Amino acid sequence: MADTQRTLIIVKPDAVQRALAGAILSRFETKGLRIAALKLMKIDRPLAERHYAVHQGKPFYEGLVNFITSGPVLVGVLEGPDAIEATRNLMGGTNPVMAAPGSIRGTYALEIGQNLIHGSDAPDTAEYEIGLYFQPDEIVEYTRAVDPWISG
Ligand code: RTP
Ligand code: MG
Repeated sequence: MADTQRTLIIVKPDAVQRALAGAILSRFETKGLRIAALKLMKIDRPLAERHYAVHQGKPFYEGLVNFITSGPVLVGVLEGPDAIEATRNLMGGTNPVMAAPGSIRGTYALEIGQNLIHGSDAPDTAEYEIGLYFQPDEIVEYTRAVDPWISG
């Protein structure tokens, strides 16, 4: 049985503006992942800089920070078996033109700079990113009646 993990997702400003937030969240729910935390917020510049610190100095960094702070986002924590890799696979590759057909980016997006969804890429980044957006008591521990039918 796979390890239960938590991962951070951000439904990016383009997705909220295009009224795709519900459809995108639904993809993770129907996959079987459990929503452990969720909020609508605007990311300010200092938070964006902490989130994207690993990309500082890259040519796309300024555009990336401007984009992620450009409007409201839906930030959440997803939980489940291999949640980090499951979420990344469902998102599709970074460039939506190349993203697998049927993935979120492969279905709904065309531009690398407007690719709708963020997901943590490893256990250490997931822990760091969850801590940027949520206090421990904002993450809700619960089980659903369907959980044994999805895993275990
Ligand atoms: P994310 O962090 O948003 O989940 O996306 P990712 O892991 O698939 O991609 P990453 O390499 O972490 O890059 C973060 C975001 O920066 C933008 N980007 N633009 N123009 C470019 O070459 C370029 N490369 C990356 C993308 O919007 C990507 O989601
Ligand atoms: Mg990334």
